[in-house]
Amino acid sequence: MKIVILTGAGISAESGLGTFRDVDGLWTQYDLEEVATPEGFARNPALVHEFYNARRANCLNAAPNAAHTALARLEREFAGEVLIVTQNVDDLHERAGSRAVWHMHGDLAGALCAACGFRWDAPKVMTAGDPCPDCGAAMTRPDIVWFGEMPYLMDEILAALVSADLFVSIGTSGNVYPAAGFVEVAAQAGVATLELNLEASDVASGFDATRQGMASDLVPAWVAEVLAQAV
Ligand code: OAD
Repeated sequence: MKIVILTGAGISAESGLGTFRDVDGLWTQYDLEEVATPEGFARNPALVHEFYNARRANCLNAAPNAAHTALARLEREFAGEVLIVTQNVDDLHERAGSRAVWHMHGDLAGALCAACGFRWDAPKVMTAGDPCPDCGAAMTRPDIVWFGEMPYLMDEILAALVSADLFVSIGTSGNVYPAAGFVEVAAQAGVATLELNLEASDVASGFDATRQGMASDLVPAWVAEVLAQAV
């Protein structure tokens, strides 16, 4: 049996990392167009680096919560296959012990040269003037997928989705495509679907079942159920 799990900012909310679209979310404090688009980066790279340097610092100070830990337990103890596809750019799944984690929107730990595409480990504080270790261009950007760019690993993710037995979405508002469309892809392929979120997401009606509450309650309870059924 194969379980594919999509996670979003809601799973890291209880670790103290802000979500994007809740009342005090990041997109109520920052202009998405200025900090999360290639055009915004071209206009003001310093502002974009300041935004992601702050996210990186928050991430370093945060710890995985019970939801991350429960998913790591699922991967360790489940007899089948467990894959996490995350929209999050933090590394809390990995720090909780999950190994099969795909970052479809990139990763705060990565730096990317906008000139030649070379990737390397991001320092804690990045500036646009940092030279690329490969080509030397001073066009360093965070290795984050911005609006208008293609998320990573899409072919692999779609293949994993249609060959899964269960698709579970955790802590995501269903606002941003292509991730918001994964439930439809899974359902059309006959895969069972479950949403675990604080509130009904924008695509909640597409799931076979939905549960509402805090990720730190819902996820450990669901993992315990799956592991109990598998015995
Ligand atoms: P959002 O901020 O859009 O949605 C977070 C969801 O988590 C909301 O539906 C909340 O109700 C829910 N939530 C909040 N706290 C929760 C908790 N403790 N337990 C469970 N659920 C909780 O974040 P995403 O859906 O991840 O992309 O956003 C998707 C993408 O939009 C992000 O990857 C980012 C953003 O713009 C880019 O920057 C490219």
